[in-house]
Amino acid sequence: MTFPALKTVDSTMALLRDPYRYISRRAAERGSQTFETRLLMRPTTCMTGAEAAAVFYDPKRFQRAGAAPPPLQKTLFGQGGVQGLDGTGHRQRKAMFLEIAGPERVAALADLVTCEWRRAIPEWAAAGQIQLYPRLQVLLTRAVCEWAGMPLPDADVESRTRQLSALFDEAGHLGIGHLKSRVARKAADQWAVGIIEQIRADELDPPHASAAYVVAHHREPGGDQMSSRVAAVELLNVLRPTVATAVYITFVAHALDAEPAWRERLAHGDGGEDLAFVEEVRRHYPFFPAVAAIVRDDFEWRGHRFTRGRRVLLDLYGTNHDSTAWRDPERFNPERFLGAAPDRFAFVPQGGGDAALHHRCPGEPIATRLMMVALDQMVRHMTYTALAPSAPVDFRRLPALPSGGYPIQVAATNGGHTGA
Ligand code: HEM
Repeated sequence: MTFPALKTVDSTMALLRDPYRYISRRAAERGSQTFETRLLMRPTTCMTGAEAAAVFYDPKRFQRAGAAPPPLQKTLFGQGGVQGLDGTGHRQRKAMFLEIAGPERVAALADLVTCEWRRAIPEWAAAGQIQLYPRLQVLLTRAVCEWAGMPLPDADVESRTRQLSALFDEAGHLGIGHLKSRVARKAADQWAVGIIEQIRADELDPPHASAAYVVAHHREPGGDQMSSRVAAVELLNVLRPTVATAVYITFVAHALDAEPAWRERLAHGDGGEDLAFVEEVRRHYPFFPAVAAIVRDDFEWRGHRFTRGRRVLLDLYGTNHDSTAWRDPERFNPERFLGAAPDRFAFVPQGGGDAALHHRCPGEPIATRLMMVALDQMVRHMTYTALAPSAPVDFRRLPALPSGGYPIQVAATNGGHTGA
């Protein structure tokens, strides 16, 4: 049996017009979780839903080497990093990330980020109207560089923030945005190579638990260190996505406005429901649209043939909204996270499966913790007015954000929130 095929020459533009909903909408039109199309001029199989995710994360069926589209390797991911590894090489590299994002390290980062919020709130109040998203990028850049053992003089904060942010905020754009992201990648790689080489030459001695130290001294399966170029890519694989948490934090703010009853409930609660709220933000809001892999050897699933070498995309946003796994999936409802842990192939905002064995993101504990720190600050320690509180989310932007950014007016510390 063959897949339902779309009668289009190349669907790249259709995907870019609706990057988060393209796969699930086309799949629904065809009445199948799987369909074939052409993307970037290459035959591509698209899959959506929890059952498809369980197949996609089977390393016997899929590999990652050669899967990432070249434009994203030159911007978002960098070249030679963990995203393109398979087998033992992947597991050993992945163990390094799980060490970097271990519980004590996450707690240390959360403390630094909390200090940065305390420093930022009076500055934002003094500035009058601000855009929350770019301010969060600065706050997170400062905190993650200190935590990761990366020296960051005050004079460089703005430029490093711009560089790290361009790696994820411009990478999915066409034209000038993509070029900016490529320039940022070159500069950031150079910066991180310099730090790795200084550590290896004993000219810089960051704390031994810090990301910079761990990456500089990590050993590959054969016992060698990574080249300084690949080590730099991996160090940026920690810094860049931590700054990208600014996207999720902006959505936490958006959700607090959209759900005033929940804001009240959290403000008067003991913090026990904060995690459920941020998990629902990660399920409900768009961030990373899809992930790519390559079929290892021919196989059949549900009567459909997957041929060796075929590129396959798994729809993350659509899987988080799949009505066979989620009741009333379009409704924002944190209560769905108050019970048992969600299925690891149904809840996939940062990939599915097991982070130690599969390509699932190792940074979920970091993202959720920094979102909880932000929620605590916004609900319990900051008085602000959202100036466009119900702005629709711009689903064409990559990553998506509330239209018009997220402007706020910060009034004072230690208060609550007022609607516009
Ligand atoms: C800001 C929120 C974040 C989002 C939306 C996100 C999303 C993702 C996604 C979708 C993947 C790919 C999963 C796959 O290929 O199957 C991934 C992988 C990865 N993420 Fe995150 N991530 C975030 C935060 C972080 C943080 C804070 C770190 C810092 C350690 C991190 C480090 C990584 C790494 C190293 C990988 C590659 C893992 C592998 O290939 O095995 N991410 N992330």
